[in-house]
Amino acid sequence: MYKVGLTGGIGCGKTTVANLFKQLAVPIIDADEIAHAIVSPGGIALTQISQKLGQMYILPDGNLDRSKLRETIFNNAEKKSQLEKIMHPLIYAEIDQQLSKLSAPYAILAIPLLLETKMQRFVDHILVIDCPMEVQINRVELRDKLSAAQITAIINSQVSRTERLAQADSLIDNTQDQDQLSQQVNHLHKQFLTQAQ
Ligand SMILES: Nc1ncnc2c1ncn2[C@@H]1O[C@H](COP(=O)(O)OP(=O)(O)OP(=O)(O)O)[C@@H](O)[C@H]1O
Ligand SMILES: [Mg+2]
Repeated sequence: MYKVGLTGGIGCGKTTVANLFKQLAVPIIDADEIAHAIVSPGGIALTQISQKLGQMYILPDGNLDRSKLRETIFNNAEKKSQLEKIMHPLIYAEIDQQLSKLSAPYAILAIPLLLETKMQRFVDHILVIDCPMEVQINRVELRDKLSAAQITAIINSQVSRTERLAQADSLIDNTQDQDQLSQQVNHLHKQFLTQAQ
């Protein structure tokens, strides 16, 4: 199976693009969805978080105390690294598991932190969704209850735009409207079908 890693900075349009590929019947594996599932009650990561980081991150109802964990890792690099050591291997193992069940010429692996986790070699092709920082900030402001300063801080914590573009095998420019986006997705779909052979 030919694996296309779809990545890009916050709010650049990864989910929007993944949905367009889905409409073309391309299987999508979503790392964010997996991350969410494995920390839900009964999820494999939750037990490890409780054991290695502490029971205080589990709420009385069995759910992960996301805001407490977020606050901790924001202030503590060591704890952040501990959490990543739990999460990343489990996420990539689950992606492998889901891939093994698919039969299609190629699959889109939507992995926002593909470059940050240094897992470039996990995929055959790196597809970057790109737009200028002002567009990112405007779209995320509209979507989430975050200030421009908070969004800028997230952007600065991610791989830089220059670095991301340098690593891209293909690029989707999502500065303009949805029509422009669909055209680029349709074009790439044909290209990936050929490359997958
Ligand atoms: N071409 C476009 N024109 C206008 N709005 C857009 C366009 N593409 C995406 N959006 C909107 O911008 C916001 C961010 O897009 P999306 O959620 O797809 O980004 P993302 O990269 O998945 O973000 P995240 O990193 O937070 O997961 C969404 O509200 C989406 O509807
Ligand atoms: Mg998204």
